[in-house]
Amino acid sequence: MKTIQAVSYPVHFQKESYTALSNLIDKNNYSTIFILVDENTLAQCYPKFIPNLKTDKTIELIEIESGEINKNLETCIGVWNAITALGGDRKSLLITLGGGVITDLGGFVASCFKRGIDFVNIPTTLLSMVDASVGGKTGVDLGVLKNQIGLFANPEMVIVDVDYLTTVAPREIKSGTAEIIKYGLTYDIHLFNEIKDNKNLEISDLIFRSVEIKNEVVLQDPKEKNLRKILNFGHTLGHAIESFYLESEDKENLTHGEAIAIGMVCECYMSSKLLGFPTEKVGEVKNLVLSIYNKTNLLQEDFSLILDLLKHDKKNVNGQVNFVLLNDYEDFKLDCKVPLELVTESMEFYNE
Ligand code: GLY
Repeated sequence: MKTIQAVSYPVHFQKESYTALSNLIDKNNYSTIFILVDENTLAQCYPKFIPNLKTDKTIELIEIESGEINKNLETCIGVWNAITALGGDRKSLLITLGGGVITDLGGFVASCFKRGIDFVNIPTTLLSMVDASVGGKTGVDLGVLKNQIGLFANPEMVIVDVDYLTTVAPREIKSGTAEIIKYGLTYDIHLFNEIKDNKNLEISDLIFRSVEIKNEVVLQDPKEKNLRKILNFGHTLGHAIESFYLESEDKENLTHGEAIAIGMVCECYMSSKLLGFPTEKVGEVKNLVLSIYNKTNLLQEDFSLILDLLKHDKKNVNGQVNFVLLNDYEDFKLDCKVPLELVTESMEFYNE
């Protein structure tokens, strides 16, 4: 079985992973197994998953509504009520079967219920396979502000089964691709080049390498005091843009990846102005982003609202916005202060 060992839990790949899950359930003699799904994963992933779950324990399904807009405390209360009504206790196991919303919210629900029950992440989207399900970040949004409420809590196991990707729309696959590009720019440029050259792209290899990188980073800095901040490259401005579109009723939401892809272009531009990141590489990143994602027209009149949302970034200290920027590919600088005029200029650059 292909496995990456994270700090206290394995990330298993391929079908044999399900044997490890059955062994975990037997070993811990869980009282009830709760499976958290949304309407999409219930219809498309649960039928693939359930024949693999070999257990005689009681299984209870809990369904929430899909979408970032439902990643909030109200939804958590609904899940806690459901677990309670179904007789959940401290020996219950929660399996999260879904994308980033399900794994982030499910991990948070599990780690708060009766001060913490075990959970297993089974990511079903590219985004949750390469990022959200690994690394111990759990949580929910506060209004449109991303991941403001949450805690670090590790699952008992993560299972990455690429078969679930057949259930995912192309736009969502592109969303996850942005995280792989991020690993490429900050840590291993081969990943970036493989996507750019688009040759022999083997998705399971890209996922495996991405999880390897994330794990290497998280092992060194689990609580994001230093190095782990690189996993936020493109996210500082990207989250603000994503939140802006979430709260704009007259605009279609961006996927997480679409927003952070814009964030990466803008943050490369800031890097070139502040740290001398080569301008031809800014062009290379922008070209790749525009070859994958539809161009978003960031309106001048919206810039100030986006800048306002930047104030809520979790890396901020004393009201100062902190960016991760690049000296060069694979060569980052943490905690960079960027004048707001330059942030605006970077959005103008993206628009050009
Ligand atoms: N998604 C960024 C991190 O896990 O640190």
